[in-house]
Amino acid sequence: MRRRLVDRCPWLRAPHRLAGRAFAMALAVALIVTSCKKPQDGIRVGLIGPFSGPFSTLGGEMEAGVKAYLKQHGDAAGGKRIEVLVRDTTGPSPEIAKRLAQELVVRDKVDFLAGFGLTPEALAVAPIATEAKKPMIVMNAAASTVTTKSPYIARVSFTLPQVTAPLAIWAARHGVNAVYTLVSDYGPGIDAESQFKKTFAAEGGRILDSVRVPLQNPDFAPYIQRVKDAHPEAVFAFLPAGEQGVAFFKAFQERGLAQAGIKLLATGDVTEDQQLDALGPAALGAVTTHHYSVAHDSPENKGFLAAFRDANGDRMRPNFVAVGGYDGMAAIFAVCEKLGGVIDGDRAMAVLAGMSIQSPRGPIVIDRDTRDVVQTVYVRRVETEGGKLANVEFEQFPAFRDPGK
Ligand code: PHB
Repeated sequence: MRRRLVDRCPWLRAPHRLAGRAFAMALAVALIVTSCKKPQDGIRVGLIGPFSGPFSTLGGEMEAGVKAYLKQHGDAAGGKRIEVLVRDTTGPSPEIAKRLAQELVVRDKVDFLAGFGLTPEALAVAPIATEAKKPMIVMNAAASTVTTKSPYIARVSFTLPQVTAPLAIWAARHGVNAVYTLVSDYGPGIDAESQFKKTFAAEGGRILDSVRVPLQNPDFAPYIQRVKDAHPEAVFAFLPAGEQGVAFFKAFQERGLAQAGIKLLATGDVTEDQQLDALGPAALGAVTTHHYSVAHDSPENKGFLAAFRDANGDRMRPNFVAVGGYDGMAAIFAVCEKLGGVIDGDRAMAVLAGMSIQSPRGPIVIDRDTRDVVQTVYVRRVETEGGKLANVEFEQFPAFRDPGK
């Protein structure tokens, strides 16, 4: 009788206790032990992200984007069925992300690691991708350093410096001279703050002061008051996508920043499409920069929006994280096709390097050397379109890369 792999390998029962050398050993043993994956098995993609907890929007959107891709293109590539194994970090939780990645590699024998809504979780999994030689497709996590942490990482989403630099340039060239920055206090926020300061200063602008708010459940009122008291011409903000934008705009309105003549400049995370209706009229006129807007006019975006509705129903609204999930699957499908369904980590990375995708956001390229995404960054304004708020694109920075790379 065939024994289950967990019976043959007791260490699999407590994978969370494995770390570093122990994981390497487990991996080596797993490669020798008769595989539970039969040759006719499909290709497995482990989708790791926060699907519950305070950042569940990220996981939910990513998975909805993955489903939209499968709905539109079917679930086979390179002659194999593509199977997606969803794993919830409940995060932000780098420890859980790491344990889930170990289990996916050792027990579930995935061919790809994918997902990663939050930077700290992507960073925690990077060493596992390296050790296991598994391609790791980053569908959202956007701190600049992520792709430098493993040669097996390719990113299809964006980086904070990439979307922030164009905003600093645009603001300085449109009469904004004095700015206060407000960001979430972790990697992506610090990236956004640093890049805004650097580019805005290079363009002749002046930073009055900067404040960082806690990543989880920030109470914006005291921070917004501090911004108001400094009398800037504008505030530059980055907050992770999800409900924080709503709380931010509430405080912005309650403290009367617009009445005080303070403009809002932000990365598109703050006015992301899924939450846009909930932001209300306070968001009108905010200028943001980002790589994707639901309002983007292209046949690819129309196709994406139709597939998204088909796969997820009318209740769920897409945003840029969903597009990350969708394009991540496009990259995985392209690798599977090119390699005829036999996935080897190094060969997969060679296919990913330099890959172009016609994304719903416009054309994107995975840079050959950095494995990071190069794409158009759009300047948008929150306006009413057809009775609803929309991020309306009005200027663009084509083929824009992370300025540090
Ligand atoms: C990240 O943690 O990298 C992250 C999360 C949400 C965003 C952007 C970046 O909107």
